[in-house]
Amino acid sequence: MHIKVIVSVSALVGVASAQQAAWGQCGGIGWTGPTTCVSGYTCTYSNDYYSQCIPGTAATTTTKTTTKATTTSTKTTTTSTNPSPTLYLCGDSTMAKNGANDGATDGWGNQVAKYFTGITVNNQAIGGRSARSYTREGRFNTVIGLVKAGDYVVIEFGHNDGGSLSTDNGRTDCPGTSTETCPVTYNGVAETVLTFSAYLENATKSLKAKGAIVILSSQTPNNPWEGVTTFPGTGSPPRFVAYAETSAGRQGATYLNHWLYSMDLYKRLGASATNAVYPNDHTHTSPTGADHMARSFIKGLMCGSNALKNKINTSAASVVTGSCL
Ligand SMILES: *[C@@H]1O[C@H](CO)[C@@H](O)[C@H](O)[C@H]1NC(C)=O
Ligand SMILES: *[C@@H]1O[C@H](CO)[C@@H](O)[C@H](O)[C@H]1NC(C)=O
Repeated sequence: MHIKVIVSVSALVGVASAQQAAWGQCGGIGWTGPTTCVSGYTCTYSNDYYSQCIPGTAATTTTKTTTKATTTSTKTTTTSTNPSPTLYLCGDSTMAKNGANDGATDGWGNQVAKYFTGITVNNQAIGGRSARSYTREGRFNTVIGLVKAGDYVVIEFGHNDGGSLSTDNGRTDCPGTSTETCPVTYNGVAETVLTFSAYLENATKSLKAKGAIVILSSQTPNNPWEGVTTFPGTGSPPRFVAYAETSAGRQGATYLNHWLYSMDLYKRLGASATNAVYPNDHTHTSPTGADHMARSFIKGLMCGSNALKNKINTSAASVVTGSCL
């Protein structure tokens, strides 16, 4: 990844403004927040849509002590455990810090760190994004540029991936589960739209090539108790749930059925407790609801085989309920 270091003009002329926290966004098209970083971090150009506060001067080829042991007799490449791994989260508002940015909601990625130990959570989720727009804006590239061997990456999309391309909103994916393409013109620019699976798998390949361990997680459900008194059951997930599973299988990534574990939790919580965590709509949860979604992710992780489960703080996660599904 090519990296330019941005020196903020306001910093040079001494204009007082809040400094962005570690790993936070500090620039890009449409960005109106802080453009300088806290001490020890530098605002670093990632793409036209995103500059980020990165430790030191720039995340150029970091030579951290990660070693790669390749067995000669088989085609298996084993990457040694990263001594201080990072868990990167790629997703939409249901995962992002502050959720829908309405002062009432939060994303599960902002609640999950307390259930881990020995790993740093770096939440790169951002509201309104789909697998397509996250790709087009270079946000996967940002994470691909940051990951080191032995880091973990969770990718979870779906809420913004549906809809019709006849009135293209820049987020809708091409229908299908494979190499289908849809030519569109978005914002006056010709674009070949790919399927949800193609975006997920393209990112997964690049992340795995850098030694990252990828988890494709299905989207969280909308409030299943909205307007009903009988739990609707788990027979009709949104189509992106199955797409994530298919893509994980094709790419040798871990699939975590976050949708199913969340539905199970909501079923056990019941109607009133579930409705209470949806303050504004049926998609975005309160911080309490985001914590529920963090717990259902942890439950799915505990029930699976991905090595990230070894980073669960069992004491903190003792509040996580439910059975393996
Ligand atoms: C594949 O992923 C890379 C890395 O995110 C990105 O630069 C590229 O545009 C993607 N290709 C397609 C066809 O989406
Ligand atoms: C694990 O979680 C408990 C309870 O939240 C907390 O007190 C403790 O500091 C955590 N331990 C580690 C090693 O993170």
